[in-house]
Parts: sequence; C-alpha cells; structure tokens
Amino acid sequence: MGKLTAPAISANKARNGDDPLVMVTAYDAPGARIASEAGADLILVGDSLAMVVLGYDDTLQVTIDDMCHHTAAVARAKPDCHIVGDMPWMAYHVSPEETVANAAKLMRAGAHSVKLEGGRKRLPMIAKIIDAEIPVMGHIGLTPQSIHAMGGFKVQCTQAEHARKLVQAAKSLAHAGCFAIVLEGVPVRAAEMVTDAIDIPTIGIGAGSHCDGQVLVYHDLLGIEDRFVPKFVRRYADIKGASVNAMKAYASDVRSGAFPNHDESYHMADEEAEELHLYGAG
Ligand code: KIV
Repeated sequence: MGKLTAPAISANKARNGDDPLVMVTAYDAPGARIASEAGADLILVGDSLAMVVLGYDDTLQVTIDDMCHHTAAVARAKPDCHIVGDMPWMAYHVSPEETVANAAKLMRAGAHSVKLEGGRKRLPMIAKIIDAEIPVMGHIGLTPQSIHAMGGFKVQCTQAEHARKLVQAAKSLAHAGCFAIVLEGVPVRAAEMVTDAIDIPTIGIGAGSHCDGQVLVYHDLLGIEDRFVPKFVRRYADIKGASVNAMKAYASDVRSGAFPNHDESYHMADEEAEELHLYGAG
C-alpha cells in the first residue's frame, strides 16, 4: 500500500468505511523491520521505551536525545510505515522555541510526525509545532507522563462529566490541526463519543473497539514483557518464554560440550594440521 502520510492518515475514519489503522511501537531496527513486514501502518517510537527497553519504572526518565537515538534506529530500517516520534516529558513544556527545536530533532532523526500528551493546555505548543510544518498526533485520556498528577496508571473519564471534557479536548486538538489522536485508558463509551465527534482518526489503547485504529506496545503484544499484563493487552506470542527456553538449551549444550560441534567450527586443511602435529603445536 505504501507509506501513509499524515494527511492520508487524517482522512482515515471507520465511519467512512476505511480499514482501522494499525499502529505498534518499535524502538530499534529489527523491531521496525518486523512491524513493516507485518504490514503495520504506523510505528510509534513511544516513550514507553523507558519502561519496556530501558528498565525504568515510568516514562518520565527518557530525554529527547534518548528518543532521537531510537527514532533514528527505527528509521534506518526504512520500514514501509509512517514513523511517529514521541515527545518525552519536558520536551514541550518549557518554551515554544525549545518545543519546536525538540520536535525538529525527532524529524531529523527520521520521524514523519511527532506525538505529545495532553489536552487544551498543550494547544499553544501544538500550534507552534504545526507552524513549523511538523504534523502532530495528540494523546489524551490516560497520559502516562502525568502519572504523578493522576495518582498512578488509572483508567480516566469514568464519569460522564469527565467524558464530556474529553470530547471537548479532542475537538480542540482536531481544531488545532492534529492529524490523529491516541485515546488511552478510557471507557468504550467515552472513546466512542470522541470518535464520533471529530473528523480525524482516534487510535485507541485500552479504549475499546470503536476507535479508528489501535495501538499496542511491541513488548506487550509479542509477550516479551510478562511482568504485568494490562487488561487491554492481547498477547499474540510468548517470545519471552520461547527466548528463555532457547537460552536454556544453549546453556545446556555449552555445559555438556554439545556446542559448538564440528560443522559449527573452522578447520585447517589436513596437511597444515599434520605439520602442526609433526613439529608440536607450541
Ligand atoms: O509511548 C507509548 O508507547 C505510547 C503508547 C502507549 C500510545 O504513548
């Protein structure tokens, strides 16, 4: 189908009969190649990098330089996917100048657009980024960069009043020019209201089936991360289990002397080996 551009993505709505958008996170070249060969429409180089790759407890620990490093690795794989670079915490909170410079760093690293978290209070920064010709994806609902303000990773907008506010936030992001919005950790009904209310696509994670697309974290869907499996994750493989078993087999073969075997080793020509034998190896 070819790589989707931000304008093409912005027109993709389920209510128009379009196929749901498929987004997955990836953080390196092999992950990008797998996502591309699997036919994902979008790769998000998410700040979930902090938790699933770098071992931190939350997403607040990654910097714009970390995000650029991994965005560049994904881009070098030349996936046939639209690459979204995630703006980490504090990359778009300080000043418009810093915000645009950080968004530009992600674009120069190989992203085709950037994503940032938050509703109406982010509008001024979103306007500046779009003004610099950089497409912006919004992200509302459960916003992991607000973990301390939210009091933990908790489902958001469970009350009618908050769901109405979510719809207002989505409308203002769409009005500001965002080309798509991630809806994370909200009830199905709230996600459905948002999806119906705006003309740009919603991409859900823990937001039910009424969104215009879905996103999952690479390590969750492949079963590489198995310490905590949120309710909304469907694991399509057990790569962690398969990897541990493979490593155990390797360790056992090394210990028993079964690895490496003759065919897995380099050999001298017989006459050279014979010469070493005649004159002593040392
Ligand atoms: O960083 C990330 O992986 C994300 C997704 C959960 C949408 O923002």
